[in-house]
Amino acid sequence: MSQLIAPARQLRGRIQVPGDKSISHRYALLAALADGRSTIANYAPGADCQTTLACLTALGVRVERDAESGAVSIAGRGLAGLVAPSAPIDCGNSGTTMRLLAGVLAAHSFPAVLVGDRSLSRRPMRRVMAPLSEMGARFGAAPGDRPPITVHGTRLRPINYRPDIPSAQVKSAVLLAGLQTDGVTTVTEPAATRDHTERALEAFGVPPLVEGRTISVTGGRRLSARALRVPGDLSSAAFPAVAAAALAGSDVTIEGVGLNPTRAAIIDLLRRFGALVEAHVDDRHDGEPVGWVRVRHGVLEPVEVLPDEVPEVIDELPVLAALATFGGGLTVSGAGELRVKESDRISALVGGLRAMGADAEERPDGFVIRPTRPLTGGSVDAHGDHRLAMAFAVAALGATGPSHIAGADVVAVSYPSFFTDLDGLRV
Ligand code: S3P
Repeated sequence: MSQLIAPARQLRGRIQVPGDKSISHRYALLAALADGRSTIANYAPGADCQTTLACLTALGVRVERDAESGAVSIAGRGLAGLVAPSAPIDCGNSGTTMRLLAGVLAAHSFPAVLVGDRSLSRRPMRRVMAPLSEMGARFGAAPGDRPPITVHGTRLRPINYRPDIPSAQVKSAVLLAGLQTDGVTTVTEPAATRDHTERALEAFGVPPLVEGRTISVTGGRRLSARALRVPGDLSSAAFPAVAAAALAGSDVTIEGVGLNPTRAAIIDLLRRFGALVEAHVDDRHDGEPVGWVRVRHGVLEPVEVLPDEVPEVIDELPVLAALATFGGGLTVSGAGELRVKESDRISALVGGLRAMGADAEERPDGFVIRPTRPLTGGSVDAHGDHRLAMAFAVAALGATGPSHIAGADVVAVSYPSFFTDLDGLRV
């Protein structure tokens, strides 16, 4: 599908965004390992989180969905209680599904093959295979340690692991495996990453020990089923929020959104750009802070994102690049991880923004956007990447002419109603 995006004058209104993708994956996986039936309200409607449910179904878990409310009910099978799948397990486009599931399956004594779509099949899996192998699991993989991967699970031993890259997926895979050992598994991160797994473990009754950047779980403790509610996804909210920051006269409030501090760096960055941002926590669901964010346009300033700031804003860098085309400009370094996301998010982002008329430069570990002129608009390709499709759409709002985004239906991976929501805010 090619999506036409017309320039916009300004955006105004209040919206809610879909349930958080990262949190939904974790609640589903932990619910499957818990004792009893969990319910998850506001479960993320995007394809990625539906994929996690389909994978769990293939592993013998009974999953029910309420078509109207979107709530999900999962009958837990207990620790290491999944059953051997009868075919390869399809993780679709979802790196989080494949990496976290590898951690879960490493403790199950049957082989399982995990496959992905074209994008996922080029993403590196060594980062989870290495620690899980140290715990005793064996792996097969395509050349370059890419999917499909075969997990040969076993009785795992606990480890102390120090990943060399900051990755919440790696941390979570090791902690999920650690739950299914006889001892204490520890992960010490090189930089803080999103802590949803730690908070979710506490919600399921097995709180980890957190000492600075070191997180420990004790294996063998039973998880108790829960009734949970997923907050709105701040990474999805970032798209309308940035659009409001970009267009003069805009005033957009996003309600019911997760404001976990390990995800909230986008708010500080919008302020550094010059936007007027109010954020307020007014609720808490299962250990996750929830609230509202109001964003108004302000005169845009140049911003630099430094390497140590990257992990907490990694998913928002494409849309911040879009913001920088409206004014201010943006320099990002230390973000080489962007090259192994759903697309090569450095080259595809810079290429797409240039096709719309931007002054954008690719660097090995980042990019530079100079706001030398307004965009003209143009034809771009989403490269099978949901966040690029949405970032290009936001950039296109400020162009002098219309833009076309090829493959824009990929927004369904995380934010199926994105284009409708965006149109609803136009005035
Ligand atoms: C995620 C962690 C991040 C992020 C991804 C979701 C998670 O990936 O980019 O969208 O849910 O744990 P890395 O762990 O590879 O940094």
